[in-house]
Amino acid sequence: MPPVKTRASPVLNPDQMDQIDDIVGIIRKASYTVAMTGAGISVESGIPPFRGADGLWTRHGTPPMDGYAQFRKDPVGWWNRRTNGKIDSHVMELREALANAKPHAGHFALVDMERIGVLDSVITQNIDGLDEKAGLVNLVEIHGNRQKLRCVECGTRESLGEIVPLFAPDPCDGCGGLVKFDTVMFGEPIPDDVMAAARAEIDRADCVLAIGTSATVRPASGLLWIAEAAGAKIVEINPTETKLTPLSEVSLRATAGQALPALLNALS
Ligand code: APR
Repeated sequence: MPPVKTRASPVLNPDQMDQIDDIVGIIRKASYTVAMTGAGISVESGIPPFRGADGLWTRHGTPPMDGYAQFRKDPVGWWNRRTNGKIDSHVMELREALANAKPHAGHFALVDMERIGVLDSVITQNIDGLDEKAGLVNLVEIHGNRQKLRCVECGTRESLGEIVPLFAPDPCDGCGGLVKFDTVMFGEPIPDDVMAAARAEIDRADCVLAIGTSATVRPASGLLWIAEAAGAKIVEINPTETKLTPLSEVSLRATAGQALPALLNALS
């Protein structure tokens, strides 16, 4: 009996729908499916990506790679500059976009895929907190979350909720250590607990969905190559080709907002 063709989608063409069917086949055969998401999944929530034509770095220039070292040298100065608005234009643009952003159908489709048991976890490179807002349960925020503070010594995190700190936070209650935003700065090592959690998910995965990432920033993107080398099937969802495309079983040229609801529909 020929495979059941998935219902037509209002936004995807027949070829793309064939690829959706292929992705369904891969996920159904998998025992543990992990999604790795990047800035692209939040573009349809109004947050610009970093690279590519409309990228923040493309338009404002790539920030210095020693941001963390500068922060450690003068944390109070860093906070004061931030409070006095002496911040880079890309940070201002990102901050405004983040303040107004809400999860879209693509984020909610991942939540539903987790709920119906076809998606086991999500590793996000995004700091926007939209995955958590959408309701994802098994989530690793590998670059941190902008609405949390973290002690750089003991790793204790504290949720800020909607509060935006205006001054340097007090030292850590627990160990007296230096407290910063939970987001990982350029030049800052990924906290051990987060890296271990992400690696554990990748080591379990036999299918990885790479959604909206240029797969350029390590160590996060390196996990995709580790998974592929260990035999996991890689599925890419991205409007443009990336370095990961040659490694992908299926590389679907579509946006997250177009592809993920259609994929959820086909899996339900
Ligand atoms: N849906 C899906 N993918 C999209 C969409 C969309 N609507 N719009 C753009 N994309 C794709 C782009 O084609 C690009 O390949 O998303 C990707 C975004 O790539 P980057 O901007 O490089 O973002 P990302 O891969 O997440 O960057 C990794 O770099 O600057 C650091 O810390 C930052 O976490 C970030 C890391």
